[in-house]
Amino acid sequence: MSDSIILGIESSCDDTSAAIIKGNAILSNIAANQAIHKEYGGVVPELASRAHQQNIIPVVEKSLLKANIQQNAISAIGFTRGPGLLGSLLVGTSFAKSLAMSLDVPLIEVNHLQAHILAHFIEDANPMPPKFPFLCLTVSGGHTMIVLVKDYFEMEIIGKTIDDAAGEAFDKIGKIFDLDYPAGSIIDRLAKEGNPDSFKFNKPKLENYDYSFSGIKTSVLYFIQKEVKKDPDFIKNNLNDLCASVQKSIIEILMNKLEKAALDLNIKEVAIAGGVSANSALRKVMQDNHEKLGWNIYIPKFEYTTDNAAMIAMVAQLKFERGEFTDLRTTATAKYDL
Ligand code: KG4
Ligand code: ZN
Repeated sequence: MSDSIILGIESSCDDTSAAIIKGNAILSNIAANQAIHKEYGGVVPELASRAHQQNIIPVVEKSLLKANIQQNAISAIGFTRGPGLLGSLLVGTSFAKSLAMSLDVPLIEVNHLQAHILAHFIEDANPMPPKFPFLCLTVSGGHTMIVLVKDYFEMEIIGKTIDDAAGEAFDKIGKIFDLDYPAGSIIDRLAKEGNPDSFKFNKPKLENYDYSFSGIKTSVLYFIQKEVKKDPDFIKNNLNDLCASVQKSIIEILMNKLEKAALDLNIKEVAIAGGVSANSALRKVMQDNHEKLGWNIYIPKFEYTTDNAAMIAMVAQLKFERGEFTDLRTTATAKYDL
């Protein structure tokens, strides 16, 4: 891999992030989180765009400072072109274009979903990078899919959610429990103190490798409504057990299909990616499957799971080597297939 220095910019949702990569080593990975959305129980697109505008210059400056890199050492600029919230994407895209123009360096567009998967090739993401072909369970707030990764830029979605994403299920069920947004990491923390076998929730019965998470959300809602009628403090009195049980159900749904795909395709190289791959119980089940099923598992380093610019810089580096540059007239796109 070349030793070029590349700046990556991520602004697809509610994290403004900038990272500097040299070869496949991350020199800095800075993110500004947008706390404002907590008050609304979800990301408010208009507020996200405004916060990106405020954050982008300081975040990029910090990434250069931390990496101890001058602007003129940058060989190219990678940015998230999509998928994501259009207003948010526009901030990163416009900034990347302007900077590429002023530094007279190539501009490189990055698909956010490809980046979650290719984050596994960052030097310190794993002890060893995955070997092709591998399966990657890509689970975030907006997406849930099993991807067959044949090569860096040759990916096939073999199963995906037909309704909510897994992260969305964590967040929506967290809302029922009156937890802050995003609830995924809070449920993860509370679940550690709870009994995962306390409550059982409906599981979808779908053919092939597709997922559905709207059923479990409704099942939790109806169950809670029924119990709260009998005991108004039901949630408070059972919160840890509820979180542990919900988490167990979501992970079982995710892993059943992943195990089936690995068996059917006879693939033992199995990775997870995206915000939900930060989940400690999911990471533990992957470990267990390494022992039980002989999988070679790839669990990204924590900081490369939720949205970050390091993964964007990684993809930009791979495209830079291939001479795949983007025209300055390009625009952001809310939808962007793998
Ligand atoms: O990849 P990401 O940062 O943003 C998207 O591209 O969507 O994923 C965010 C999602 C949220 O739904 C959040 O609740 C979930 O990842 N998440 C978790 C954990 N940390 C983040 N879900 C379960 N357990 C966690 N520890
Ligand atoms: Zn993401």
